[in-house]
Amino acid sequence: MFANRVLSGMRPTGSLHLGHYHGVLKNWVEMQQEFECLFFVADWHALTTHYDTPQVIEQSVWEMVIDWLAAGVDPARATLFIQSRVPEHAELNLLLSMITPLGWLERIPTYKDQQEKLSSKDLSTYGFLGYPLLMSADVLIYRATQVPVGEDQVPHIEFTREIARRFNHIYGREPGFEEKAEAAVKKLGGKKSKLYKELRTRYQEQGDDEALESAKALLDEQQSLSLGDRERLFGFLEGSGKMILSEPQAMLTKESKLLGLDGQKMSKSYGNTISLREDEAVVTKKIRTMPTDPARIRRTDAGDPERCPVWKLHQVYSSDETKEWVQKGCKSAGIGCIECKQPVITAVLDEQKPMRERAQQYLDDPTLVRNIIADGCEKARKLAGETMRDVREAMGLSYS
Ligand code: TRP
Ligand code: SF4
Repeated sequence: MFANRVLSGMRPTGSLHLGHYHGVLKNWVEMQQEFECLFFVADWHALTTHYDTPQVIEQSVWEMVIDWLAAGVDPARATLFIQSRVPEHAELNLLLSMITPLGWLERIPTYKDQQEKLSSKDLSTYGFLGYPLLMSADVLIYRATQVPVGEDQVPHIEFTREIARRFNHIYGREPGFEEKAEAAVKKLGGKKSKLYKELRTRYQEQGDDEALESAKALLDEQQSLSLGDRERLFGFLEGSGKMILSEPQAMLTKESKLLGLDGQKMSKSYGNTISLREDEAVVTKKIRTMPTDPARIRRTDAGDPERCPVWKLHQVYSSDETKEWVQKGCKSAGIGCIECKQPVITAVLDEQKPMRERAQQYLDDPTLVRNIIADGCEKARKLAGETMRDVREAMGLSYS
């Protein structure tokens, strides 16, 4: 239960493009080889900003899942699900809202930033203010240890950690906690309980973070501990009480190096994208008509790759040899721009070929996708249910 578990979500607000692939999806595909991964469609999060255009969300959900599968996200390795199909997220969101100070939400930078950026929409809603808390519920309900997110989302993970800490502090107390914890230490057995005590003292008296990490690792290895004792021992390390919700780490997703057709960040709002499964002819046309170094008006004018968005694509897609050919050919007017673009066109099409192929089976038989998601939702609900049982109990809601 305390082994690494990765969770991430994506809002279904439009089709995915190659920027998403190079930034986020490739990363997901790598992580699924190494960790237990849960990836979900954050449709409720999409509603916080798109409450007046729900059709956009509805249309994007299945397309987005197909994009994930096309990119190589593997349902045999990762659990894929839709947020709104796991209503436990909403229950945890509600329960956590009881202990969430308004000030914590109001001072998260994305709250004001996004309100200003999307000024055409009224975002002074309860739902939008609660965006980060809903995210906390998403993460905490699976006891995720790592959360891959872009830089803008890091404050939300920080906030999630604070909420988990506050929750454990308020509800992690049980009568006789100290005694129960001491008894659990004994159950570790001679050498291990001695080591646990030493590490705990080192952490508590000297603030030695390494000792804390070693103690956590020690607990991770103990297969025979009961769930209750395990939580007590984790909580006892940091002093407070039972650790019911665990604090996740943000895993920063590097920004995609792939820029758009105009050399700016690839983004739908700039109209400079190549979508993940874009038609071959369209890809070819889009790249052929891309702007180049504005100083290169005639074929005989020399150019400078540094001032050309095509060069940015070569940097992602081309070998050193090709890049050298571009540098020389451009600066000496030895090659034309159409010629220069060809290797990029070929590379993008090659990259997309397996994606198009993988997507085809799902387009031919949509029940495949429905089934993958149904399975994922079932798995997710099971995990979420386990946490909710502990949460309800801690908050005095498990009347019997
Ligand atoms: N807010 C995230 C984004 O815009 C999406 C998201 C929702 C998410 N819930 C999450 C990401 C939980 C990670 C974990 O990118
Ligand atoms: Fe850009 Fe290539 Fe033309 Fe140079 S030759 S301006 S790098 S497209």
